Amino acid sequence: MSHKLPVVAVIGSPIAHSKSPKMHGYWLAQNNIAGHYVPLDVAPDDFETVLRTLPKMGFVGANVTIPHKEAALKIADHVTDRAAKIGAANTLFFDAEGKIHADNTDGHGFIENLRAGCSTWAPTDGPTMVLGAGGASRAIIVALLEQGAPQVILANRTRARADDLAAEFGDDRIRVIDWAAADDAMIDVKTLVNTTSMGMVGHDPLPFDLACLPMDALVTDIVYAPLITPLLHRAQDRGNPWVDGLGMLIYQGIPGFTKWFGATPTVTTELRDMLLS
Ligand code: ATR
Repeated sequence: MSHKLPVVAVIGSPIAHSKSPKMHGYWLAQNNIAGHYVPLDVAPDDFETVLRTLPKMGFVGANVTIPHKEAALKIADHVTDRAAKIGAANTLFFDAEGKIHADNTDGHGFIENLRAGCSTWAPTDGPTMVLGAGGASRAIIVALLEQGAPQVILANRTRARADDLAAEFGDDRIRVIDWAAADDAMIDVKTLVNTTSMGMVGHDPLPFDLACLPMDALVTDIVYAPLITPLLHRAQDRGNPWVDGLGMLIYQGIPGFTKWFGATPTVTTELRDMLLS
């Protein structure tokens, strides 16, 4: 550890709903570390000033969330390849000179959640179908490709957004299909992931019935409110393996905690229950 106080912020606006302070607070207690993890509600116009000031105040790093994830990447002095490719940062480290290092651990969280939730799953198993082409989708696709996924079948309501993503990534393993063609295209899929807000409390469920999905395909959702989304209920009813989205939130936090506080946290049922309460 450096001479600095181990203080970390999560910066967003709004931020009151964030589960990150609870989670990192739990891990600080679990590891007996006298550090702090505090929520900061910062307006976009003030973000750069606040970010550049934090290292001077003894902060060792920060998480950033909506609406600052893209701005954080632009302001950072050093950016990991995966954050650059995703186009957004969620985890920042401040070095001894106060330089800002930006990373994006969302895709790592996605992969680790599936590995933890389904011991037989591997990203190399076969084609993954990704529903949605927003920020979360970008992080997940970067991680899947990095981990050797043989194919990513991408469907988005607004097809042009998926086409743009595929053109930008320039990886011929990405195949874009129409939103309306997703159900039929599930025929060879080994992993199905929802990255849209459909199925979230107050939103419509996804319009797919999974009739063509192979019975051994793993189904997962980044939505965790409700924990068991209509998509996951459908997977359960058919007998497909499935993993809920809460773990993605938890696992994306592990690299940051480990680097800031110098201890590797563990994922427990108690932590999951606490985050759901
Ligand atoms: P995030 O950063 O959480 O991924 P986002 O960038 O706003 O959020 O992306 C939201 C995703 O949910 C997009 O893929 C969006 O589809 P569009 O690109 O067509 O907007 C998808 N989405 C949101 N509401 C939807 C709906 N009612 N039906 C289908 N897709 C929806």
